[in-house]
This record gives sequence, C-alpha cells and structure tokens, in this order.
Amino acid sequence: MLLKYLSFLTLLKCCYAYKILYVSAVPSKSHGILTAGYVRHLLEAGHEVTNVSPFPVNNPSRNLRNIDISEIRKFIDMSVIDVDVIMNKKVDIQDQIASISITENLWKDTVKLDVMQKLMNDPREKFDVIVAEWLYSDLVSGLASVFNCPLIWASTMDPHSLVLSLIHENLNPAYTIHHTSVDYSFTFLDRIYQLMSTSRVWYYKWINANKESEVFKQLYGSIVAKKGRVLPPYDDVRYNASLMLGNSHVITGDSIALPQNYKHIGGYHIKDTVEPLPQNLKEIFDNSSNGVIYFSLGSNLKSSSLPESIKRDLVQMFSEFKETVIWKFEKSIPDLPQNVHIIPWIPQQSVLSHPKCKLFITHGGLLSKLEALHAGKPIIGIPFFADQYINVNRAVAKGFAKRINFGKNIPRELRIAIKEMLENYSYQNRAKELSKIFHDRILPPGKELVYWIEHVIRTNGAPHLRSIALNVSWYQKLYLDLLLVIILILTLLFVICKYIFTLIRIRLRSKRKIQ
Ligand SMILES: *[C@@H]1O[C@H](CO)[C@@H](O)[C@H](O)[C@H]1NC(C)=O
Ligand SMILES: *[C@@H]1O[C@H](CO)[C@@H](O)[C@H](O)[C@H]1NC(C)=O
Ligand SMILES: *[C@@H]1O[C@H](CO)[C@@H](O)[C@H](O)[C@H]1NC(C)=O
Repeated sequence: MLLKYLSFLTLLKCCYAYKILYVSAVPSKSHGILTAGYVRHLLEAGHEVTNVSPFPVNNPSRNLRNIDISEIRKFIDMSVIDVDVIMNKKVDIQDQIASISITENLWKDTVKLDVMQKLMNDPREKFDVIVAEWLYSDLVSGLASVFNCPLIWASTMDPHSLVLSLIHENLNPAYTIHHTSVDYSFTFLDRIYQLMSTSRVWYYKWINANKESEVFKQLYGSIVAKKGRVLPPYDDVRYNASLMLGNSHVITGDSIALPQNYKHIGGYHIKDTVEPLPQNLKEIFDNSSNGVIYFSLGSNLKSSSLPESIKRDLVQMFSEFKETVIWKFEKSIPDLPQNVHIIPWIPQQSVLSHPKCKLFITHGGLLSKLEALHAGKPIIGIPFFADQYINVNRAVAKGFAKRINFGKNIPRELRIAIKEMLENYSYQNRAKELSKIFHDRILPPGKELVYWIEHVIRTNGAPHLRSIALNVSWYQKLYLDLLLVIILILTLLFVICKYIFTLIRIRLRSKRKIQ
C-alpha cells in the first residue's frame, strides 16, 4: 500500500514538473522584466526552467538554470533608441522592415554563441516545451526542431498582423492599426496607408522567403541531422507554434477576433503584493499634501540625454504646481524647487499604487501602460518609438490619457496637459473604471500563463487550437481563384457571343446577296 502511495506520488511529481526552455534575445530592460515574470510564475508552479536570455533571473530555486547570453549586447546598438537620435530623426525606428533585418541578424549572432551551441548540440538536453519571445524575426522557431518539442510564442505587444499571421492570418487593415503607426484614425487615406504598410511588409517577407529559409538551414540543419532527424522546411516550422501568449489585454488594445490559440496574459509581470516604498520615497509621499505627479521616460531613454534647456524649463514648469513631482532621472539637477524630487531608481508599481499618486507622465511603453491600468491611474503619454505611439493613442481613445509630442515645446504643452488632467476628473474616473475591467478576470494572468503552457504539454502541442486559416493559401482566402474562374467564364461567353453574332451577320449578308 505504502509502495503504491509512493509510486503515485512520484508519478504526480513527474507529471507536474515539466522542463521548460524560455528564450528571449532582446537586450532591452523591459524585455528582461517580461522574462523575469515568466520564470517566476513557472518556478512557483514547480517546473524546471532553463532561461536563455541576456537577463539572468536572480532566484535561488534549484529548478532554475540561467544561460546568460548578455554577450549579444556587443552585436546590437541600443543607442539607436536615444532622445537625440529620435529628436533629430536620425533613424526611422518605425520601419518594420528595418526591425526585421536587425533582429534576424541578432538571432543569427545569438545562435553562434558558445553557450547556445553547447545547449543545442548536447543530446542530453530535453524539453517539454519552448517558450520563445517573438520580436520581428521568426528564426528562433527552429529551436522547436532542435529539441523536437512544441513551441509557444511570447508576444510582447498588443496583437498585430506580424504575430497573428504566424498562428492565424493578417488583420484587416481597414479597421486595425499597423502597430508602429504614429496616428490612430481610419479616414480614407489612413485606410490606404494601413493597407500599403501591411502589403509592404508582406511583400518583403515574400521576396526574402528563400534567403531566410537558407539561413534557417544553416543555423539548424546540421544540429538536427546530428540528432538523427531531418530539418523540416522553414514554413512548416515557423507556422507550427502551438500557442501565442500575448502581453496584452482587450482594454490595452482593440477588441478584435483572435484565434483560439492566442491568449491575453497582460499584467502577468506585476507582482500580487505591492512592495512598500523605500524610506526616501515614503517621506516624500508623507510630506506631500496635494498629491504626487510621477514622471518617468522608461528604461531605454535616459533622461540625462535630454537637452539642458528643456530640463531647466521642465523643472521651472513643475515648480508652478502645488503637487509634488517625482522625476525618475539618473542625475540630479542643482537648485531644485521644493516640490520637485529627482530619484534615479523608483519601484514604479509601489509609486503608482499609492493613493496620493494622481498622474503618471510616461513614454507610453506597454509595461508602464499596463502598470497604470493595474493601479487605475491616468496618464500623459510622450511616445518616442516603436509601439509607444499606438499604446498612447489607444489610451487617449479609451479616455484615460492625453498625448504630447516630444519636441522643443514640451514644457509648455506639458503644463497645459497636466493642468487639464488635474482639473478634469473624467480621466481619473475612466482610469479607475478601466482598472476594474482589467482586474475582472477568470484567473490572474500569471496563473493563466502557467495553465496554457501546461495545457500545450499535456495535449501534445494542442493541435486542436490551431487555426484552420493556416491551411488555406492567401489567394484562396481572397477568392482570387474564383475571380479567375469568373473572368474565364465571362471571356468564354464573350467569345461565344461574338462568334454567334459574326455567324448571324454573315448569314444575313449572304441572304441579302441572294435576294
Ligand atoms: C508541429 O508541432 C507538432 C506539435 O508540437 C509536432 O508534433 C510536429 O512535429 C510539428 N511539425 C513540424 C513540421 O515541426
Ligand atoms: C518632510 O518634512 C519634514 C518636516 O517639514 C522635513 O524635515 C523633511 O526634510 C521633509 N522630507 C522631504 C523628503 O521632503
Ligand atoms: C473633461 O474631459 C473630457 C474628455 O476629454 C471631455 O469630454 C469633457 O468635456 C471635459 N470636461 C470639462 C468640464 O472640461
């Protein structure tokens, strides 16, 4: 009996502790936060996690193995994302095609790292599932062939055409916005623009398909062969993911039809318990009698690269308010007014959750937006690049935000926006309303993340969730084959009619001749 019980226990253990490979090759801090969230939830659920990323997770658990690929920082120039570069329009970071080739090269370099080669070539390495972050390049999907296990995409943004085409199909550009779009409207011209940009990316992928497929073979062909298998064609692998977990929620994005294997888990990176404020911040909050405005431009953009004159004008402008201003900034500024505090590191969630926090001035990164929604705080968004425009535009459309464009006039525009946001309660009320919706879920997002990953493993890759749209080619979806048939029939009818008419004419003419 005891033996039976023990073997039951070991069975239970072996069925519940899965081996999960998490991969993210984006050396940007916000992606590190998302990585830490996955690792934390999977470890808490008792799984063995191998974390391949430039951000090793600090956790004493025996079930965690970090494979540090921070070396990839030498291959990618993060200074691309700099205030100066953006203000003076030196590079166009909104161009998706540029992003595709940058991240493709980044992944090629990542695979060549010794730690990656060791991991991929070791025949003892076995995983039940791979969770891979998608960022423009689909090449990482080859790991599913290397380890012969299901693949789950981790998407960091609201659902958009590029990711949805991997598990379903492109979004209709007539009512969805291309995710690096700077504006958010659907006039005639906007719809044409949306269609053009979707088609442009689609065309780029199409003409590069052969080249990419070659790279895929180079990266994984010999490794898979060494394991005694044949590498499947690239398209069979990249369109074969079992699931996509999205760092999104219907209130951060638009309400669109999604395939069964797309799951919203936005907010999973936020811890359940709010950590107490550190002493310096606690004192500032305690002293503040008129509320707090929190100002942070995120982790990529260094406020210290802001032009000197703008810094001075911002401080001057903040000093006119009776509210306390907490500014996340690396270096202090001399002669600060009494109500402005500059602090290099801030536990954002603790500040936003504080009842005295009235307003959040942000660059509009999705993590910051999710944290603002979690805490129910209105925002002023100053978008700089990537999906920040669309994040802010959508927040404005939902009624809990205002957007300011970055430029020389920013102190003046910000003054007007802050004044309106503080005086008009509709923004605060809307933020609270949306926060309530954000929290009203069947399961907390971290639990849902774990559930779906386990579901994929338990059901051998969850083929039942796969979208049937993937079985149909693009021309069939657009009924171009039907169009072709109709054109052929019409042409045929035309030719027949013409023939008959000619016959009749000849008959009539010959009749006349006889008469
Ligand atoms: C696609 O995924 C399923 C489920 O993980 C797997 O069984 C199959 O071998 C995969 N096909 C290819 C071509 O990788
Ligand atoms: C808070 O107020 C007290 C008393 O007025 C003052 O001594 C202290 O310096 C203030 N702290 C901060 C961080 O402003
Ligand atoms: C407050 O802001 C909302 C949203 O922009 C607007 O519809 C409303 O008219 C404003 N109310 C006042 C009193 O200005």
